[in-house]
Amino acid sequence: MKLLIDELETNKILSKEGFVQLIIGRTPELTQYLFEKSRKIRQKYYQKDVYIRGLIEFTNYCKNDCYYCGIRRSNRNISRYRLTKEQILQSCETGYHLGFRTFVLQGGEDNTYDDDKICDMVYSIKQKYPDCAVTLSLGEKSYKSYLSYYQAGADRYLLRHETASEEHYKKLHPSELSLENRKQCLWNLKKIGYQVGTGFMVGSPYQTPEDLAEDLLFIHKLQPEMVGIGPFIPHQDTPFAKERGDNGELTLFLLAILRLMLPSVLLPATTALGTIDSRGREKGILAGANVVMPNLSPINVREKYLLYDNKICTGDEAAECRHCLQQRMQSIGYHVVVNRGDFKPLGE
Ligand code: SAM
Ligand code: FES
Repeated sequence: MKLLIDELETNKILSKEGFVQLIIGRTPELTQYLFEKSRKIRQKYYQKDVYIRGLIEFTNYCKNDCYYCGIRRSNRNISRYRLTKEQILQSCETGYHLGFRTFVLQGGEDNTYDDDKICDMVYSIKQKYPDCAVTLSLGEKSYKSYLSYYQAGADRYLLRHETASEEHYKKLHPSELSLENRKQCLWNLKKIGYQVGTGFMVGSPYQTPEDLAEDLLFIHKLQPEMVGIGPFIPHQDTPFAKERGDNGELTLFLLAILRLMLPSVLLPATTALGTIDSRGREKGILAGANVVMPNLSPINVREKYLLYDNKICTGDEAAECRHCLQQRMQSIGYHVVVNRGDFKPLGE
């Protein structure tokens, strides 16, 4: 099995069968072997640096109905909110003083924010903070919309493909959503020139090792600049409320595989990982991740953006989160840096 890891390190890819074998054959010893390699590669490109992104969850309205997601339109048990442009700019202001140089605007698919409003938001942030990057995570939009946001100044876009298997995709989403369109959106974003992030949930209902292998193969084909993976965690008001959600170890293993496959990729240790394990984000960094995305949303809306149960940091001020992360990273010998944290192409 170690030979498979060596092969992955050398060729940056395995066959589907190879990935399946590696995932099924996971042992503590193999994990150790893999982590030593992933940490070394991380060190080569990013040393002990940890990039931070200020996450602003600006709306929890969503027109979609993904079976796993707490803000899906059918959930009548949440109180919905939208942030104004002024509130978003205020969050950026707070973030800037705390050392954030990337702002991530994330939300449900909410058409109240039409293209003009989004462009205006992006443009205003870039005008006010020219040394900062703006990342958008607004779901599936047309080529024309993506282009207009890019022209307004957006630098990066996050859109997880969620699962690269057609059959599995149908088990997680209602029929109005299609994997084909999701993938097309990612290719469009790439073509426009964004730094693109994709990803998937680990341990989502019905997921098989073959599905995970498909995810890795799709990611290899797309060659994204960022990959966001985190454990699936059930939300009490969704059809998946009773599903299992304990996949921290597998998430760490996959983070390390991704580091070998895409050596200089931007790889977050996600909030979901920190939710199922109190030291999840530290473990993620030690497995090869190099990004964390603390919450910058105003504190009064934090509890309302619950994609899954027991989400961490919903009661903390942005400054507390920032301080806490600094301490956590220092405790494992890493440090948060104050810069945009752009992708480094291989060889640099
Ligand atoms: N609407 C945008 C989109 O679809 O890309 C961005 C917001 S969406 C809520 C952000 C991500 O949350 C999704 O890509 C999904 O992977 C993740 N997510 C949703 N429900 C989750 C759950 N129950 N457990 C873990 N992650 C979840
Ligand atoms: Fe909003 Fe899936 S429920 S994008």
